[in-house]
Amino acid sequence: MTGSVITGTGSHLPERKVSNDELAADLARQGIETSNEWIVARTGIRQRFLAEKGTTTSTLATAAARAALQDAGLQPQDIDLIIVATSTPDYVFPSTACVVQANLEAPGGAAFDVQAVCSGFVYALTTADALIQAGRAQRALVIGAEVFSRILDWSDRSTCVLFGDGAGAVVLERSDRPGILAANLHADGSQLPILCAAGNVAYGNVVGDPFLRMDGQAVFKLAVNVLTRSAQEASEAAGIPLEDIHWMVPHQANVRILNALARRLGVPTERVVITVDQHANTSAASVPLALDAARRDGRLQAGQNVLMQGVGGGFTWGSVLVRL
Ligand code: UT7
Repeated sequence: MTGSVITGTGSHLPERKVSNDELAADLARQGIETSNEWIVARTGIRQRFLAEKGTTTSTLATAAARAALQDAGLQPQDIDLIIVATSTPDYVFPSTACVVQANLEAPGGAAFDVQAVCSGFVYALTTADALIQAGRAQRALVIGAEVFSRILDWSDRSTCVLFGDGAGAVVLERSDRPGILAANLHADGSQLPILCAAGNVAYGNVVGDPFLRMDGQAVFKLAVNVLTRSAQEASEAAGIPLEDIHWMVPHQANVRILNALARRLGVPTERVVITVDQHANTSAASVPLALDAARRDGRLQAGQNVLMQGVGGGFTWGSVLVRL
């Protein structure tokens, strides 16, 4: 049966690394009180990377894409589909995927963005897999990239300490060997108010609130519930019991969410890839960043079953179960 396999991964982080102590000192100068102790205890985050002025989502996405192409042994011209998952695009239009395609100097194939906030990468990967299975594409670059630092209210300590910038990418290729084994995507638009950046550009002005707003506790509870159900759904659909899943790579928002998810599923936390301590929450970039980190440090190996999961604004969530 024709399907799609991941043949390369890559990622890219901005140069500027900001520890919790550095961030707390910066915020203290504006009269906002927080601490390394609070951030670590409530979230597990120890540092984040923040993009310099002039670095955009496409800058990070292009660098991650180049790394993934190199890992796959491919040239940009071999790619006939580029999907970028992002909520912080360079422009209203064209899509960030088109900017990446121009940067890679590989015109001709399809290029578009997917907007599913922190579930974006899982949505994009599922879309690319479907297009490949339908014979509409052969080789795709699937990228999650964000500069969330641009949509944070830096006077709101309940959100500004949680996020970072970055990008991760995979090359997905048509193949007869099993790769993507199961996927599910879900949304509940009625939950919009618990996590949103409810502004837009109209008549030359920003209309509404351009900053990210979150009801952290509501998001926390919903995230654990939906991720648990989505993991079970993927495991059943693929006929692969949870104990045969070698690694879980869930969205990296809070180490307490990851621990609660592992506990609910009965999966040892040693089998959950955790990068939120290093990268903070990078929204659509978090899953491919974590995937690439764990592949490059040797944890993830060919032949293993890996469950990637996204959850976030919309509310959206979903899973992709893949054999590497
Ligand atoms: O990627 C999208 C998905 N996003 C998520 O999954 C995030 C889900 N939510 C969470 O991770 C957690 O709910 C948070 C990390 C956002 C918050 O943790 P919490 O344990 O739910 O804390 P809380 O909101 O109940 O706040 C506890 C206290 C409050 O003070 P009082 O009212 O108890 O006096 C806050 O004002 O902590 C205070 N607080 C802070 N203190 C120091 C909130 N932010 C900070 C801060 N530093 N940065």
